[in-house]
Amino acid sequence: MTPRISELGAHVGQRVTVRGWVTHVRSSGKIAFAVLRDGTGIAQAVFVKSQVPGEVWERFGTLTLETSVSVTGEVRAEPRAPGGYELGVAALEVIGASPTDYPIQPKEHGIDFLLDHRHLWLRSARQRAIAAVRSELEQAVHDFFYERGFLRVDTPILTAAIGERSGLFSTEYFEEGTAYLAQTGQLYGEAAAAAFGKIYTFGPTFRAEKSKTRRHLTEFWMIEPEVAWYDSNDNMRLQEDFVSFLVARVLERRQAELKELERDVSKLETVKAPFPRINYTDAVAILQGKGSAVQWGDDLGAEDEALLVEGYDRPVFVTNYPKEAKAFYMKENPDDPRTVLCDDCLAPEGYGEIIGGSQREDDYDRIVQRIKDEGLPMDAYGWYLDLRKYGTFTHSGFGLGLERTVAWICGLQHIREVIAFPRMMYRLRP
Ligand code: 4AD
Ligand code: MG
Repeated sequence: MTPRISELGAHVGQRVTVRGWVTHVRSSGKIAFAVLRDGTGIAQAVFVKSQVPGEVWERFGTLTLETSVSVTGEVRAEPRAPGGYELGVAALEVIGASPTDYPIQPKEHGIDFLLDHRHLWLRSARQRAIAAVRSELEQAVHDFFYERGFLRVDTPILTAAIGERSGLFSTEYFEEGTAYLAQTGQLYGEAAAAAFGKIYTFGPTFRAEKSKTRRHLTEFWMIEPEVAWYDSNDNMRLQEDFVSFLVARVLERRQAELKELERDVSKLETVKAPFPRINYTDAVAILQGKGSAVQWGDDLGAEDEALLVEGYDRPVFVTNYPKEAKAFYMKENPDDPRTVLCDDCLAPEGYGEIIGGSQREDDYDRIVQRIKDEGLPMDAYGWYLDLRKYGTFTHSGFGLGLERTVAWICGLQHIREVIAFPRMMYRLRP
């Protein structure tokens, strides 16, 4: 039997073979221990000199950090051992030796060094915990929308139309001219919403942002629902239900990982719908009262967002931003035409914007005007305008940035750790 370490509890008293990597060794001369990691857990292999063949004892002496091994022995419950189980070793096979210059040693390393060795850094307990929370969230995203009757639609990554204002990556596309890597799946999501009613996309998005901040990647994953007949209020209700669902799922199933990350879970337990809503114009007044230099018309920066959510125990919506601060597709606010029917959802504890959402401009002439005003190439939007020409419809949607959400839920300072191989302005390798 070759169980994974996480399955050892079902094999107490049995002889099994475990394969994994050595993370720690120590020996008293008569008894020796090797801690093994296999990605599902950790377990301790115990070598008793008087009970194992001489060659097994010798081989123990060759084990170094990250040697891959196959260990056969009897499983015992041992509450004091890391992981709670140990193997009374009968046989040991070295599968892959690991030279003693393994780059990541149990000591402090600088962040650039760690990122250069990201392919090895992933093996740490902390990185496994982050990856497990991320994976849990990805599954929860699909469960949430599936249970609510949404269709998942996969939108193209190579596109001709531009969705957002941020930087673009481009490439030559045969005889068709320039293709841009998608900054958003939204425009295609809108077409799909007219076809299928309730949809979401979940895919990688690309922004050539020359910003070196804690919350910007050049490649990140976004979840974008788009719903026919939803107005801006319906849209915010969906967002607060969605975010509460995601947080509850991680609390329910990933306590061990949150503990590994030393996350204060009391700060997550209060994340329940409804979320407070602050109008942009009020937000500017509040921020100015707190000493911010923000002026009406500006988008809110990270510092303003952190200042605004102070004292809240759950995310906060900021609604109705000025038209100039937001993308061309947002619907004009009939109560204040300087603004649009949109919201940003700001995570608590200073994490800032995790969602941008809006009701979409559904009037043909108005959206044509907005495309012109933004200086966007009209010919790339012919198909998009058809959605307003043939049976236009009230519709709304939003985009939740997966990495920012994982960083917040895990309580991490920087989003570079929440994706296996981060892409940033100065980082294309590994
Ligand atoms: O606010 P954004 O730009 O909105 C859109 O892209 C819309 N098309 C969404 C929609 O309505 N369907 O981006 C949405 C979210 C942000 O709130 C943020 O969480 C994340 O995407 N995001 C980034 N995450 C990491 N790195 C970046 N450079 C990001 N830019 C945006
Ligand atoms: Mg935004």
